[in-house]
Amino acid sequence: MQFAKRLQPLQFNVFAEMDRAKAVARSAGREIIDLSLGSSDLPAQAHVIEAIAQSLYDQSTHGYLLFHGTLAFRQAAANWYEQKFGISVDPESEVLPLIGSQEGTAHLPLALLDPGDFALLLDPGYPSHAGGVYLAGGQIYPMPLLAENDFLPVFTDIPTPVLAQSRMMVLSYPHNPTAAIAPLSFFQEAVVFCQQHNLVLVHDFPYVDLVFAESQDWGLGIEKNLSQYPIPSTQSPVPSILQADPDKSVSIEFFTLSKSYNMGGFRIGYAIGNAQLINALRQVKAAVDFNQYRGILNGAIAALAGPQAGVTDSVNIFRKRRDAFINALHSIGWQVPTPKATMYIWAKLPSPWNQNSVEFCTQLVKQTGVAASPGAGFGKSGEGYVRFALVHEPPLLETAVQRIAEFL
Ligand SMILES: Cc1ncc(COP(=O)(O)O)c(C=O)c1O
Repeated sequence: MQFAKRLQPLQFNVFAEMDRAKAVARSAGREIIDLSLGSSDLPAQAHVIEAIAQSLYDQSTHGYLLFHGTLAFRQAAANWYEQKFGISVDPESEVLPLIGSQEGTAHLPLALLDPGDFALLLDPGYPSHAGGVYLAGGQIYPMPLLAENDFLPVFTDIPTPVLAQSRMMVLSYPHNPTAAIAPLSFFQEAVVFCQQHNLVLVHDFPYVDLVFAESQDWGLGIEKNLSQYPIPSTQSPVPSILQADPDKSVSIEFFTLSKSYNMGGFRIGYAIGNAQLINALRQVKAAVDFNQYRGILNGAIAALAGPQAGVTDSVNIFRKRRDAFINALHSIGWQVPTPKATMYIWAKLPSPWNQNSVEFCTQLVKQTGVAASPGAGFGKSGEGYVRFALVHEPPLLETAVQRIAEFL
């Protein structure tokens, strides 16, 4: 059978290799401690489940949900943004529900790229950003994220010919996998850069709520040079791209309920931002899907508009896990910085593994049952690192570190 060429770049996947290594370890009788997936183990809130359960018995929710979801959902999303970031959003033209944010970020390149056009992506970055570009026949320019630059890309390093053929840039902070956060001043720099170079600025924003630092902790070096940009007070310690582009001139942001509200399996998120971009994404999606089930949208409304104590509880749980895991790593002599956000630990590999993260993870799961994600799976600049997802309670995380110590 002959398949389209666009499938080729999707065939090599480090994470599929890791799944095989996990399966082999399991069948050899190893007890697996799986820290490889960023899928929250915490439950969705009771009031959210109740809203979905009620909807199931309401026959009017059973049909196709055409057009762009329900106004009630789009309004809840717009209100949430206004409350959190002080940005006013038109629920008619500037919000689009998604079947998870991955669906949206992977479909958007189909609306923006002609074959051969470049997308500027973070390296390391979330794999589906690249997947969407490949499906659209685009090319990727990976913007390296280095520890010495606080894992922020350096726009002036992008070669001029690449820039001339680029149509979009994708950012995502708090960042998976490095756990870096970006100050508003960096987003303002990105907006100006994208305006100057006629680029669409995409911001994938799943970890907006999983933040342990306060805004005054943003003291990243770059801010010093851009102090002309004021940081407005908002309810969120991390900025939205729309705060840097309040006219929504070039920007579109993607939010998911998977992380803040532990709703990964429910597949619900939304895009928010420039009305033309929202409309273009809607046109692509209209050819592909009929939207998420209305009952799930009702659950998402309950999450966004209802009590937010569950979000704080989740953050506190992840903070405890982070501290337990980091302390355990430090006690075995592995010096890893304490992340200010996300559910991940991004750890620089010690010698002799520092240039072979895939081999490190393969051997680790084989010999100890601890599964982690090799940095190389997130891009070339991820090599030399490993990502641990904090998806278990502290005692199991500490057991994992003991096993890692024996392995090392
Ligand atoms: C950067 C990033 N974007 C998107 C997603 C997926 O979000 P969703 O569940 O809404 O598709 C993840 C999940 O880990 C992520 O880390």
